[in-house]
Amino acid sequence: MLAVAVLAAGKGTRMKSELPKVLQPLAGATLVERVLASCNGLEPERQVLIVGHQAERVQHSLAHRPGLEFVLQQPQNGTGHAVQQLLEPLADFDGDLLVLNGDVPLLREETIAQLLAQHRSSGAAVTLLTARLSDPTGYGRVFANGDGAVSAIVEHRDCSEAQRTNNLINAGIYCFNWRQLKAVLPQLSTDNDQGELYLTDTVAMLQPAMHVEVADADEINGINDRLQLAQCEAVIQERLRRHWMREGVTFVDPASCTLSDGTRFGRDVVVEPQCHFRGSSVIGSGCRIGPGSLIDNARIGDRVEVVYSVVRDAVVASDCAIGPFAQLRPGADLGEGCRVGNFVEIKKSTLAAGCKVNHLSYIGDAELGENVNVGAGTITANYDGVNKHRTVIGAGSKTGANSVLVAPITLGANVTVGAGSTLTKDVASGALALGRAKQLVKENWQPPAQAS
Ligand code: UD1
Ligand code: CA
Repeated sequence: MLAVAVLAAGKGTRMKSELPKVLQPLAGATLVERVLASCNGLEPERQVLIVGHQAERVQHSLAHRPGLEFVLQQPQNGTGHAVQQLLEPLADFDGDLLVLNGDVPLLREETIAQLLAQHRSSGAAVTLLTARLSDPTGYGRVFANGDGAVSAIVEHRDCSEAQRTNNLINAGIYCFNWRQLKAVLPQLSTDNDQGELYLTDTVAMLQPAMHVEVADADEINGINDRLQLAQCEAVIQERLRRHWMREGVTFVDPASCTLSDGTRFGRDVVVEPQCHFRGSSVIGSGCRIGPGSLIDNARIGDRVEVVYSVVRDAVVASDCAIGPFAQLRPGADLGEGCRVGNFVEIKKSTLAAGCKVNHLSYIGDAELGENVNVGAGTITANYDGVNKHRTVIGAGSKTGANSVLVAPITLGANVTVGAGSTLTKDVASGALALGRAKQLVKENWQPPAQAS
């Protein structure tokens, strides 16, 4: 039997933030989401999150996770006090308790699985994860013999000068035999620099206590301040870029690009410098993205080019070309081979295959048939100040430069709209529509005389 408890009640004072620390985002997911995800594969019988500081906010952010129990720690009197809150909800539980710090987000599932396997095979009362760091500042120091038996953990602030030279640190990840931990939890004292109950003090009370050293010290990075947040972000970004380079994506300047866990690429994608991928974006094969583009929650087909543009919550079919300087907003849905050029914004609109919107346009709440050619500066006037209305343009139609289509309006197929027209009424298929003042020319016109 396995129970997992994640400690997430602390305020995170050193972050200097309105946001509880465990809700800080890292490559698009919060710290606590990452920690919870790292033990998904272990399929624990119980999964408990200890919340306290801004508990409701933390709880609300995870409300969608089935099977997650929340336990309130009020006030927050240290990590030992946090785990004491489990005495009641886990009163009848018998098995191993895996305790994870909510601010250690880079841990890999395999590492946790190894810790658990080692713990179970050795029969230790507690097994904890350690690392050797060149700069152990801030971490609890682990005192162990050559056989991996741990005698004590001393927090950085409670260490003597001599103890601080020990660079074996506590990662904040532990496997406990719950029955044995349960017996010693009530004995914790606040006899330390912070006057808190430390979970780490249970280690000296439990025998045998063992440790397992991680191979990759990056995994156990704890986040206490924004510097460490940025360091962890860099580690995740590097992991993601390496992964996708191995999968056949070319990054021209990898360090200048950022990815999210949810981003997927096909083969032979070239990512030019300064591109950012967020949310669950899918990029097809043979695409060329960038330079300078933001792709957020977008589905992009094969052989698409995106240059200096923003594509957000939008769908782009194969063989489209976007930009430079285009914005595809939520609900933009482009068929194959469309072309969207400079200073064009498209929102909540469907463009069938082969449409061209090349220059200076706003297309919102519209439906365009195949091969519509939207002239430079064409605007769908979709908003009457109160409600939004739809514009429909039939296949093969062309709008002249600087046309305004005042919605609701429907243009049939193969309509031609004269340049500078403001159209307020539907136009039948095959028609030419002009909606502008007739040109007035006064021949040999004399300007007025200058006033004296
Ligand atoms: C803790 C460990 C330290 C270890 C380090 C690894 C203790 C006493 N020290 O120190 O040995 O090297 O993690 O990163 O455990 N929390 C609660 N309730 C509380 C206090 C904290 O739930 O009352 C949660 C926090 O939200 C956080 C985690 O416990 O997710 C760790 O707390 P933090 O204050 O960051 O501990 P560290 O000083 O980093
Ligand atoms: Ca910490």
